[in-house]
Amino acid sequence: MVSTQTSPATQVAHANAPISDLDPYSDEALIEPWAMYRELQGLGSAVWLTRYQMFALTRYDSVIRALKDASAFSSASGVMMNDEMNQVLRGNTLCSDGADHQRSRRIIGKPLSPTALKSLQEEITSKAERLVERLVSKGTFCAITELATFLPMDIVATAVGLPQDGRERMLLWAAQMFNCFGPLNDRARGAFPVLREMMHYASSQAVRGKLKPGSWADAILDAVDRGEVDQAVCPVMMIDYVGPSLDTTIYAIGNGVWLFAKHPEEWQKVRESPSRIPAAINEIVRMEAPVQSFSRLLTRNYDMDEITLPAGSRAIVFYGAANRDERKFPDPHRFDVTRGSAEHMAFGWGPHMCVGQHLAKLEMNAIFCALAARVERFHIQQETRSLNNVLRGFSKLMVSVE
Ligand code: HEM
Repeated sequence: MVSTQTSPATQVAHANAPISDLDPYSDEALIEPWAMYRELQGLGSAVWLTRYQMFALTRYDSVIRALKDASAFSSASGVMMNDEMNQVLRGNTLCSDGADHQRSRRIIGKPLSPTALKSLQEEITSKAERLVERLVSKGTFCAITELATFLPMDIVATAVGLPQDGRERMLLWAAQMFNCFGPLNDRARGAFPVLREMMHYASSQAVRGKLKPGSWADAILDAVDRGEVDQAVCPVMMIDYVGPSLDTTIYAIGNGVWLFAKHPEEWQKVRESPSRIPAAINEIVRMEAPVQSFSRLLTRNYDMDEITLPAGSRAIVFYGAANRDERKFPDPHRFDVTRGSAEHMAFGWGPHMCVGQHLAKLEMNAIFCALAARVERFHIQQETRSLNNVLRGFSKLMVSVE
């Protein structure tokens, strides 16, 4: 059962917007959202979802306008679709605007810049090579649990520097965190107890003495000492390195293997010319955006073409729909590694554009380079899609390789 939002912020008139009772968070829509996205795109630049009492922005043009204009489409009241979760992560990088946002993004982003990541490149490449070599020699493996999970988890252990205790729960925490990003449906409600565990871990373990000295997480405490950030937001800033970095990258790698298994001719192009891998990564995340939707709160009335979004309403930005908008990408459902899809929305756009994207691309690049040198073809043996309110990917993807 899905409940509607009841907070005053969302009890606003939907003015002159087209309305729809489609449910983007039903099991069916999470498995196969493309026809529903197309229908919503056809209805208008913004569509009022009666079930959730929020606007849906699904056209490329609408999504980019919202993401660029943080003064009208605010993140400071949270980017999740329910008030409970918006309270939990208040003050982290994702959920802030203006000077507060710039300050925490500067601190979080320091080790994630392309220049800073150079020091990790060699290590990531050789770890990917060793991993892929071992898995390919097995012949059959799970592209999620055995392949895609390794590097993101290794980064949390080595670079982020969080204590060992509880690390085995992190994957579960990260996935459930994203369920809590959605509207307050059963999936989100069921995830809250697990999320509380994660918040407890962040406030009890991510403290001086328990963090690896000189690590990324330790640097947040240095920023507190210098008076650059408030001690109170430390736990949610630690979450910036864990929550958004694990399942996003894991699903992106898994989605890539799945797409290449389905489209061997595209894999062949990559194998023939591995310099195509960065473009192929863009096409993978365009086709199967690991994060399908976040939201924004309107701070003032905003005219999206002929439709007025009133101040106080919430608008869901569907990155995954924008990436498949035929107004932007011709023949959008065709996977084509030569397409040139750099303008996709999978990492967002504007001031909140993913600060971890260079790391994600570095990890994906290392994995796909190692695979391109060793695998001629992937065959899917078994796949289980993960049903998550905002993430798109697989919990299990057994493949055999030639
Ligand atoms: C393929 C992997 C990834 C995808 C698809 C992804 C997706 C996104 C998206 C769509 C946003 C924009 C949010 C918004 O519009 O409000 C975002 C922001 C963010 N991401 Fe990523 N992400 C990935 C990997 C990572 C990694 C590896 C890290 C950390 C190490 C990370 C940390 C963050 C943070 C901290 C933000 C907030 C930035 C801000 O508000 O200024 N992400 N990500």
